[in-house]
Amino acid sequence: EIVIAATPEDAARLVADRFEQAVTAAGEDGITLGLATGSSPVATYRELIRRHREEGLSFAHARAFLLDEYVGLPREHEQSYFRFIRDQFTAHIDIDDATVLSPDGQASDPLAAAQEYDRAIREAGGVDLQILGIGSNGHIGFNEPASSLASRTRVKTLTRRTVEDNARFFETVDEVPVHVITQGLGTIGEARRIVLIATGEGKAEAVAAMVEGPVSAFCPASVLQMHPTVTVVLDEAAASRL
Ligand code: GLP
Repeated sequence: EIVIAATPEDAARLVADRFEQAVTAAGEDGITLGLATGSSPVATYRELIRRHREEGLSFAHARAFLLDEYVGLPREHEQSYFRFIRDQFTAHIDIDDATVLSPDGQASDPLAAAQEYDRAIREAGGVDLQILGIGSNGHIGFNEPASSLASRTRVKTLTRRTVEDNARFFETVDEVPVHVITQGLGTIGEARRIVLIATGEGKAEAVAAMVEGPVSAFCPASVLQMHPTVTVVLDEAAASRL
């Protein structure tokens, strides 16, 4: 399902609607959310925080798994995804902080930590609703081009382009970690529902490759074409090459 909204704000509201519907429908049974970092979902998180504060939308029965984490950044570092998701979203809603889980980027054995995280997602019964952004090179999570379409959570090395894309969050490009732990494409694909949000001209090419290109490891997001329940929410700029 492709939804084209007039503005980035409208796109964020549409994604927030999907979250609200799912969380409300799950009620006290609870829901497992898959959360993404990066700038793309931030407006959605802001809208959900508003609905929590002003309309009583409750996340008390939700738990969450993050997509990815930098290797080697302390948890308290502003750009660690552990910290980012708390600052931008979960600290401002009524979710139990202990249930917001992310890969352990500081583990002495990151390879084992990645496998453990994959197992934890499975043992929790999987993700019910996953929000995704997309990298300008078509990555989801940190699954860079040429990632196996069946990959599990593992350590990856970032491409130069992704390091440069993310340098805006750090003082210098040299501070951007080169290694990450990311849920694999196979892991992400097991989420029961997926909503991907992309806004702005800079994402137009990646969006076109994801939606209209061949399913290929060169555009990791194209694997979503195989998933039965994906909604792609775009603004007009991100949809401009479709
Ligand atoms: C980051 C994250 C992804 C994100 C993507 C796009 O590196 N690992 O989860 O979707 O790149 O980032 P942004 O939303 O800031 O454009």
